[in-house]
Amino acid sequence: MSFEILGTGSAHPACRKTNDDIAQLVDTSDEWIRSRTGIESRYVCTTETLQDLALEAAQKALKMAKVQPKELDLILVATIRGDCITPSAACILQNALGASCPAFDLNAACSGFLYALDTADGWFCRNRAKKVLVVAAETMSRLLNYQDRTTCPLFGDGAGAVVLGQGDALLSIHLTAKGDPLTLRIDNTDGQSPFLKMDHPAEQYLHMSGQNTYRFAVSNLCRQLKLAAQEAGIDLKDLDWVLPHQANLRIIEGAQHRLPIPTEKYCINIQNWGNTSAAAVPILMDEFCRKGTFKPGDLLGLVVFGGGLTTGSAILRWTIDPKKIFDSEVSK
Ligand code: UT7
Repeated sequence: MSFEILGTGSAHPACRKTNDDIAQLVDTSDEWIRSRTGIESRYVCTTETLQDLALEAAQKALKMAKVQPKELDLILVATIRGDCITPSAACILQNALGASCPAFDLNAACSGFLYALDTADGWFCRNRAKKVLVVAAETMSRLLNYQDRTTCPLFGDGAGAVVLGQGDALLSIHLTAKGDPLTLRIDNTDGQSPFLKMDHPAEQYLHMSGQNTYRFAVSNLCRQLKLAAQEAGIDLKDLDWVLPHQANLRIIEGAQHRLPIPTEKYCINIQNWGNTSAAAVPILMDEFCRKGTFKPGDLLGLVVFGGGLTTGSAILRWTIDPKKIFDSEVSK
C-alpha cells in the first residue's frame, strides 16, 4: 500500500517583482533574464513569513482533499530554511493547523518535495499513516545577495502542498545525491560564540556555479525521468504530463530535445514564479490541477534537481477528478 494525491494547494506572497524591478537593483535587463531563463517575474516576501505561505498552501490542499487537520498522521515540510532553526517549520505548521501528529522538516534543496514524497511513501508502506500532509515552502529572497546579478534574478518565494491518502498511485520514485559542497551553496550564520576563531564571518547568501549546475540539470532531468519510467514499467511516451523542476526554461528545453515526449506535455510556469526551489513542482501541480489539466488515470512524470547535489523523479497516476475540485471550492 502506498499513496494517492487527494488534494493540492499553493501560496505566494503579495509582492510581485518584474525583471525591470530587479534591473533597478543590479546591472541586468529584462531581455537578458527572459532570454537566458524564461523568467518574467517572481514573488518576494515583504511582511509574509514562510509559515504564512506554508499554512495557506496546506489549508487549500486540505480543503480540496476534504481532510481535517486532526485526521493527519504525519506532516512533512521540505525547505532549505524555515523561519526558525527550531521548532521546525512542520511543528509550527502543525500548531497553526491544530493537528496533533508527528511533524518534521527535511532539506534536500530543490529536490525536497520528491524526498518528502519518498519519506511519506515509507510511512504508508509501514502502515503508520492513512493521511499525510506534505508541504514544500521556500523564502529564497531571504537567501539571495541582491548585488549579485548571476543569482538574484533567478529565484522567488512560494509554497506548494499535497494531502496524501492510502492508494496505489505512486508507480515509482527514484532519489539520488552526489555530495558536492561547492556547486550550489548557502552558508549558515555563525552565531555569537565568543570562542569562534573564523577569519570571515559566513554570509548567508546563495552562491552558485551556474554552468556546472546547468550541465548537471540537463543530463539528470533526462536520466532520472528515464529511470523512474523504467522502474514503473512504462515507456516515456506513455506519460501524459511532465512536471520538471522550474529552474530555467532553457534547461527544460534541453531535456525536451533529448526525450521522446511532445513539448505540449511539459507543464511550465517559471515565467511567473522564477525558481522556488522545493516548492516549484507542488506549485506547478496545484496550478495545472486547478486548471483542470490532469484527468483521473493520467500518468505524471515528476523530475527535479538541486543543491546537494540531489535529484528526484517519480511516476504518479493522477486520481483527482477536476469536477470535484470545483465542488470543494463551492463548499468554502
Ligand atoms: O534550482 C537550483 C538549480 N539552479 C539552476 O538550475 C541554475 C542553472 N544555471 C543556469 O540557469 C544558467 O547557467 C544561468 C541562468 C545561471 C546563467 O546563464 P548562462 O547562459 O549560463 O550565463 P553565463 O553564466 O555563461 O554568463 C554569460 C554572461 C557573463 O558575462 P561575460 O563573462 O560573458 O561577459 C555573465 O557575467 O552573462 C553575464 N550575466 C549576466 N548579464 C546580465 C550573468 N548574469 C547576468 C544577468 N544579467 N543577470
